[in-house]
Amino acid sequence: MTTRAETLDRILTLELVRVAERAAVAAAHLRGKGDEKAADQVAVDAMRKELNNLSMKGRVVIGEGERDEAPMLYIGEEVGNGDGPEIDIALDPLEGTTICAKNQPNSLAVIALAERGNLLYAPDVYMDKIAIGPGYPEGIIDITASPADNISALAKAKGVEVSQITACIMDRPRHAALIEAVRETGAAIRLIGDGDVAGVIHTTDPEETGIDIYIGIGGAPEGVLAAAALRCTGGQMQGRLILDSPEKVARAQKMGVEDPDKIYRHDEMAKGDVLFAATGVTDGNMMQGVRFKGDEAITETIVMRASTGTVRFIRAKHKDAAKFA
Ligand code: FBP
Repeated sequence: MTTRAETLDRILTLELVRVAERAAVAAAHLRGKGDEKAADQVAVDAMRKELNNLSMKGRVVIGEGERDEAPMLYIGEEVGNGDGPEIDIALDPLEGTTICAKNQPNSLAVIALAERGNLLYAPDVYMDKIAIGPGYPEGIIDITASPADNISALAKAKGVEVSQITACIMDRPRHAALIEAVRETGAAIRLIGDGDVAGVIHTTDPEETGIDIYIGIGGAPEGVLAAAALRCTGGQMQGRLILDSPEKVARAQKMGVEDPDKIYRHDEMAKGDVLFAATGVTDGNMMQGVRFKGDEAITETIVMRASTGTVRFIRAKHKDAAKFA
């Protein structure tokens, strides 16, 4: 008998790659054109079209926004062909719209799937996040501790000096105190303009990416996507929704968040058997962006599965790439 976990793997792993690839190729046509909205729109269109070919009863739980603000891939939208397993989907067809518009590193097309009810229904608010990669003892990071304590615990566990640790932080005025506190430890900082899904994923391979820890505030939807990735690769993450107005608390409550101060671990944001795929739109530390050669497009995708920990890198050559737009 096929188990539920096998269903996710067998039916959906490769299809998921195709979905991310399509969105990435569509967005890559608009790389460096200075138009974030247009790049996002083509990625959304392409991802939605491909998702609707999949055999599943899919429901978007992390998407382009709430229904009244997003015409497509909105939270609650049903996708898939209506046959097959009941699946919850977190997606960001173009993660790093500004990065893509400026043709800078690490914009991605991202999607994660889990069986119904296994992804956190996070409202579109900010989330405070901290993440490290695999191979460390449980509990060495703590979102309530100071940056200095987290970095020194990480350095000790890694067996290096604090000065050999690199923290990834988004370059935002809200992070001024955080940046100062990390600098005081002597650790290095990789400041990124956008794209904290990639920022978190990069902690899983410090030798390749040069990043040991991600700290700071980014989007909550991106937090759930990053948590899904860490569920597959190993690693540790904590996230806390920033619900700093009664309106945000009410929105979160409507989505099932009972405790507005709850600290979510990655395995509470993405539970059960999770699949995650990301295709590079622009060149990045782990994947190349889309390459166009004549009519062909070449894509690089990482696809991973929580229940086995399998991480696949798929380089694909697509004929007639114009059709993807
Ligand atoms: P978009 O793809 O929607 O442009 O988001 C990019 C991003 O940098 C995310 O990676 C991050 O979580 C969020 O924006 C941070 O939000 P803000 O730009 O408001 O600081």
